[in-house]
Amino acid sequence: MMVIEGRAYYEGELQHLCLGVEGGVIKEIGKTLKGDERHDFGDMILLPGGIDVHVHFREPGLTHKEDFHTGTESAAVGGITSVLDMPNTLPPGDTADALLKKRERVSGKANVDFGLFAGVQSSGGLRDLEGYCHAFKVYMAESFGQPGIPADELPRLLQALKASARRLTVHAEDPARFRAVEEHGLRDHWSARPDQAEEAAIRRLAARENGQVHVAHLSSRLGLAALEGTRLSSEATPMHLLLTLDAPLGALGKVNPPLRTRVDTEAIWRAFSSGRIDVLASDHAPHTLEEKEEFSTAPPGAPNVETTYALMFRMVKRGKLSLKTLVSALCSRPAELFGLGSKGGIRVGGDADIVVFNPREVVKVRSEDLHYKCGWTPFEGWEAIFPKATFLRGVLVARERELERARKGRWLPFGEPQVP
Ligand code: DOR
Ligand code: ZN
Repeated sequence: MMVIEGRAYYEGELQHLCLGVEGGVIKEIGKTLKGDERHDFGDMILLPGGIDVHVHFREPGLTHKEDFHTGTESAAVGGITSVLDMPNTLPPGDTADALLKKRERVSGKANVDFGLFAGVQSSGGLRDLEGYCHAFKVYMAESFGQPGIPADELPRLLQALKASARRLTVHAEDPARFRAVEEHGLRDHWSARPDQAEEAAIRRLAARENGQVHVAHLSSRLGLAALEGTRLSSEATPMHLLLTLDAPLGALGKVNPPLRTRVDTEAIWRAFSSGRIDVLASDHAPHTLEEKEEFSTAPPGAPNVETTYALMFRMVKRGKLSLKTLVSALCSRPAELFGLGSKGGIRVGGDADIVVFNPREVVKVRSEDLHYKCGWTPFEGWEAIFPKATFLRGVLVARERELERARKGRWLPFGEPQVP
């Protein structure tokens, strides 16, 4: 048996414990355990591996931006041990054949466990795709080349979803509320895709949903208000939690939905830190610096998978966020919502996906230390606490901010979502 020792987040609190691992699974948890291989982390903190249910690793077809190796390398180093990858690729992951090919193509490159979203644009064919994906994704408005679903098709899609066991993640912006604006900066982008578009989209969803719908990247106070009292699950990203349209980022801060005002960012933070937003996800959406040169033509999106856990663990140490909320939003809740039963917590019988943090090691985020193919981050210069080590099913896959063992990632087993 292999033993990992440290201050583990177990049953809702930090306790000095030994985790006994066999066959990639936590077999035993105790104050003292014997083992033939030991990793003693002293008083460092052991947390469950992060589950990022929103990444764009760009395979196939857009691998000049990122590929499955660099994307999952960044994930492993950043403490993310499971990812669900988005379908807006070339060709898109929207048929059984495309999803099968994608799975084959990326399996040998995955450095963390992975699953796939199937893109859907109509109500037909959900059942045919179900066996090839972990969840569905729909865009209500155009974004980075993805057309939005026709407005009158959405109710039919939500109806068809009831016959499926999978969850549907929605990019919730209603294009009927968009404005024709010439875009030279972040404020223009925000005017072009205003918060009323998010609010209207969420109201349309709430009218028809049945507990299977997940709202991606919540970005506005109005959007939050529209969510209240509904059965929609929701997601926040580090960018919409920490940055506003006044950030000096130019096109690097151009994302959909847009960065908004301080009032919005603070409202999203308050909702997130008080546990009212289910999930923290990176929306890792890399583009090259060259593509981001000219604001008006720059594609929306920014890379985030490697810094998400690190920035938020820093917020825990600053007393701005509870460890309980962080672990819930990045580990246990995504596992429940997306049916990843063996993941999401430190417990006997669960996968030994363990991330080790030394809370004393505060560093500045620097692009050159990250592993993205695109070579930049919207969080340059921000304080963060990166993992010392990441274990994936008991294998030490990253250490001291470098990949230690490549290609250990596997296709995530399917399970039934558990949605209260
Ligand atoms: O900012 C974004 N980037 N929003 C999206 O909807 C798409 C994504 C991407 O794939 O680049
Ligand atoms: Zn996205």
